[in-house]
Amino acid sequence: MSQSIPVLQAVLVDLLNLGLLGKQAHWNVQGPAFRPVHLQLDELVEQLISWQDEVAERITALGGHPDGRAATITGSQVVDLAAGPLRDSAVIAGFADRLTALSSSISGQFGAVEDDLPSQDVLIGIVAGLDKAAWFFRAQLA
Ligand SMILES: [Fe+2]
Repeated sequence: MSQSIPVLQAVLVDLLNLGLLGKQAHWNVQGPAFRPVHLQLDELVEQLISWQDEVAERITALGGHPDGRAATITGSQVVDLAAGPLRDSAVIAGFADRLTALSSSISGQFGAVEDDLPSQDVLIGIVAGLDKAAWFFRAQLA
């Protein structure tokens, strides 16, 4: 079995969790920037769903079985959100941080998939997108 599969599975779990947190924040954000942040979060979720599918189907293409069950997602390394209302400024800073952390985490796995360039290519593309999404949040903090 490909050594890339556990790497891709861990990425899948984090992408799934971040997608759930994106919706959680989309529903609970409050403050003067409500509307742009509310809309930006749905754009992010749409992008995350696309990456989830790309990673999961790469796992299947390698002969593995992607696991996106709720119980499995609890193993995600992405920092959780508190329940209840979320201040817009905290959502902006919090998602900039989460996106940057996930980008760093995935970048740290490039070497683990260096013998599987198609998987590495998938991860590189996701990291570039995460960095762009982090910038879109970070730019609002200037
Ligand atoms: Fe919505």
